[in-house]
Amino acid sequence: MVAEIIYGKDLANGLRSDMKEEVYDLRQSGIVPKLTVVLIGEDPASKSYVKGKQKAADYVGVDSDLIELPSETTEKALLELIEKLNQDDTVNGILVQLPLPKHIDEQKIIEAITPSKDVDGFHPISVGRMLTGKETFLPCTPLGIITMLKSKNISLEGKHAVVIGRSNLVGKPVGQLLLNENATVTYCHSRTKNMDELVKIADILIVAVGKESFIHGDQIKKGAVVIDVGVNRNEHGKLVGDVDFESAKNKASYITPVPGGVGPMTITMLMHNTIQSAKLADARR
Ligand code: GUN
Repeated sequence: MVAEIIYGKDLANGLRSDMKEEVYDLRQSGIVPKLTVVLIGEDPASKSYVKGKQKAADYVGVDSDLIELPSETTEKALLELIEKLNQDDTVNGILVQLPLPKHIDEQKIIEAITPSKDVDGFHPISVGRMLTGKETFLPCTPLGIITMLKSKNISLEGKHAVVIGRSNLVGKPVGQLLLNENATVTYCHSRTKNMDELVKIADILIVAVGKESFIHGDQIKKGAVVIDVGVNRNEHGKLVGDVDFESAKNKASYITPVPGGVGPMTITMLMHNTIQSAKLADARR
């Protein structure tokens, strides 16, 4: 079997093109979606992600503001900035790029963002609403993954989904969204004893570990759907995922590539959340 490749990039481009039309109409009626991104420090990966977000915003017609601050920025100054953005009616989405320098308490920052502008879906109120299946901003990478699966009409109900990785950004929430879609969900992580046995029985395998070649084709079930969330540089400086693509694609039914898989979907879902936020803000006026 050779897997069908789920090109997140193509799906993302199509969605962005639809969003561009929607935002055009919104702007005609006086609704101008705006995202403010806060970037602290000089991390090259973060800078590159932020650039991707700005580019997507420009394309779809979402106003975007980038506030770049030095790595010495204090927690207090950042909290004050967030409060100012919370109060600013022209701002619909606030995204503080993570990770933050060690002297800043990340959770405190996440909790300072008003839930109505929490386009990352990281605030405990957003997380709690997601957990209880209520409408809310869903975290972008997990939402992007679900959107990719649905775009291929891959049924999730009753399927055994195995999530490797339990981060607050990806692993935990993607498992929750799969559960909300009636999948049976197993989480694997660094302390899991029988990971190979669990991976072997996964119908849907989500790999979000951050290690090159963490999963090889011979570990997966024939016909499994493999979603690779990893972003790693290999020894040649090339961008690669967590899954050995060449071996896995001969065993899976569907697989996502890196680059051009999950990544572009994440940014697209951020645009989706920002547009939703602008519409909701307008409805409250
Ligand atoms: N760093 C890596 N991914 C993300 C993300 O989705 N949102 C934020 N705020 N920071 C990140």
